[in-house]
Amino acid sequence: MDLTAALENLVPALETGLAEVSSLARLEDIQVAFLGRKGALARLMSRLPELPAAERPAFGRAANAVKERLAALLEDARLRLGREQEAADLARFDPSLPGRLPWQGSLHPITLVMEEISDVFQAMGFEIASGPEVETDFHNFEALNFPPDHPARDMQDTLFVAEGVVLRTHTSPIQVRAMLERKGPPVAIIAPGKVYRRDSDLTHTPMFHQIEGLLVDSRVTLAELRGVLTMFVRQLFGRDIAVRFRPSFFPFTEPSVEADISCILCAGTGRAQNSPCRVCKGTGWLEILGAGMVHPNVFSAVGFNPETCSGFAFGLGVERVAMLKYGIGDLRMFFENDLRFLAQFS
Ligand code: DAH
Repeated sequence: MDLTAALENLVPALETGLAEVSSLARLEDIQVAFLGRKGALARLMSRLPELPAAERPAFGRAANAVKERLAALLEDARLRLGREQEAADLARFDPSLPGRLPWQGSLHPITLVMEEISDVFQAMGFEIASGPEVETDFHNFEALNFPPDHPARDMQDTLFVAEGVVLRTHTSPIQVRAMLERKGPPVAIIAPGKVYRRDSDLTHTPMFHQIEGLLVDSRVTLAELRGVLTMFVRQLFGRDIAVRFRPSFFPFTEPSVEADISCILCAGTGRAQNSPCRVCKGTGWLEILGAGMVHPNVFSAVGFNPETCSGFAFGLGVERVAMLKYGIGDLRMFFENDLRFLAQFS
């Protein structure tokens, strides 16, 4: 076959090859066979010297035209194969299948309850306060009117770190720090945090959480304490919740009270499903926190004038509130870090 005829033959030959090609890899092979350095076109070009000199320029132009045509055919084939591939991928893809969501963590129920309670008090104008978990005897006991060797210190099952240094046994030292910082009334703080006691059984863990509240101004009364606490428990547990105070004792308050709320399961009736309510054990009431009017000795210890200041304080156990709120029966659930439990709060 003469050279020119061979050259012109390349286009139909490629068309035939491309008609059958069904993969991009095979297309690459064909491209190399036609346009590669040792491909059909290159081989024809290398025979240029066989032609008479006068015919060479025309052959060269024809070869370039064929080369462009081949390249265009190859490009069309590449686009077609790309579209076919995409269509095949789409046919395999089922958009109705549920997606695979990445695992997402969630806040711990104790954190959720602490945030919720803090929000309620912040809305009433209380500021968030905090303090160290390793605390001095002064802040944890002395300034709170526990004299040295007072038996009340035993009540607290203290974990001692060093002489005069303890793991705080309650959040009450944050009251002391808040008053020392502000140097005078008004003070309105809410302080969530971890506390530690040498206690471990079914209903006690060596670490647990409390929220401390403190309001100091010039004429704060027990009536305000009752009002604020009533507002708070109604926001947390519902509008119909009632509050009652029972006399109690804390060294840092006088008078001191335990505050109960009407049972959230039996609505204070003491009976549920025709038997004594299991949440309040038939009493109709749930103990929720300790509180009282700030003791004059506490004011003196932080440099506030007990003659002109008055205030209330309260301390609440977060685990207990979380158990009531979410209907959790076993305190240890909070600390086992079982994801089947924790994931329910996301
Ligand atoms: N700190 C007390 C405790 O851990 C709780 C408490 C009671 C805090 C009365 C107070 C309060 O601020 O006024 O048991």
